[in-house]
Amino acid sequence: MKKRYILIGGTGFFGAALARELRARGLTVVTVARGSRSTRRQPNVRLDVVRAPELLGSILEPGDTVVYLAGLSPLKRPVGGRRRYREVHLTGFRAALAAAESRGVSRFVQVSALGVQSGCGAAYGETKTRATELLREAAAQVMPNGPARIEPMVVEPSVLFGDGSEIIRTLKRVSRLPLVPLPQIAAQIRPIHVTDAARRLADALTAAQMPGRLELTGPELLAFHQLAAAYLEPRETRVMLLPRSLTRLLVWLASRLKLPGAPAELKAMLALDNAGSPPSQPEELIMFSRWASESRPRGR
Ligand SMILES: NC(=O)c1ccc[n+]([C@@H]2O[C@H](COP(=O)([O-])OP(=O)(O)OC[C@H]3O[C@@H](n4cnc5c(N)ncnc54)[C@H](OP(=O)(O)O)[C@@H]3O)[C@@H](O)[C@H]2O)c1
Repeated sequence: MKKRYILIGGTGFFGAALARELRARGLTVVTVARGSRSTRRQPNVRLDVVRAPELLGSILEPGDTVVYLAGLSPLKRPVGGRRRYREVHLTGFRAALAAAESRGVSRFVQVSALGVQSGCGAAYGETKTRATELLREAAAQVMPNGPARIEPMVVEPSVLFGDGSEIIRTLKRVSRLPLVPLPQIAAQIRPIHVTDAARRLADALTAAQMPGRLELTGPELLAFHQLAAAYLEPRETRVMLLPRSLTRLLVWLASRLKLPGAPAELKAMLALDNAGSPPSQPEELIMFSRWASESRPRGR
């Protein structure tokens, strides 16, 4: 039987890159998503994992590998607030995992995020952590004479960058200004280019044995304001670092906003350790600062 990779959320920024990478290796990929206007790519199967979870079973076959990428940004409060994180990261996840178990899926992969933990105060992080626990519990269950247990993997990417990523879209918008006041955010990250992340994940997915946990980190360790400056300065946008006290006040104010689109989880998310470990063979990976300066429009 041909091995299939079912990417739930496979039309998003990361999912689309992973689908391209797997297909380039001659593998069969089925993307599953709602086909929403925000994503703009059409999936192979249109399905809302929150509204129609009962349909998941009909698309899975024994031996499939399921990768659950459906997720919401931690930076923008969704319509529905914390409840919406629970729905997409947990209700949909639980349904996909149950369908995978009942259909004899062999591997189930959760795309979580680096540094998230229970009790972190951010619904994004708490729901991702709970989903990891559910996957580990399911994988640990061995039924006498029952089906083979699911092989699990939890993927923890640092910030993913590339054309069209959330962080680059934001930086592109502000790069039209001559001067940008930058909050001085000390939290450090190891940004990884989306094509590098997709290649490393595809390597793990196609290995004879998957690792239980996969960190996806890039070759540079940067504070958020260093990352922003590395993008803005080559575009001749001057940056002005705001004092730490003012930064703290702005982050606190942003975290109080209850409007959709507001960075409501910012304070809790910035408190997480997002640095992770340095990657193996960093020389093979794209450096954010070099990419940022080489991808600037001519003449700027
Ligand atoms: N981007 C990063 O820097 C980063 C870093 C760490 C972790 N991650 C994690 O990586 C995963 C992918 O991130 P991304 O940047 O690719 O996100 P994205 O671009 O927003 O893509 C999300 C995907 O999920 C689908 N989706 C959302 N709600 C759904 C629903 N109810 N039913 C079915 N599909 C649904 C979307 O398609 P439709 O809208 O058409 O349904 C889309 O295919 C997420 O879980 C995210 O938390 C991302």
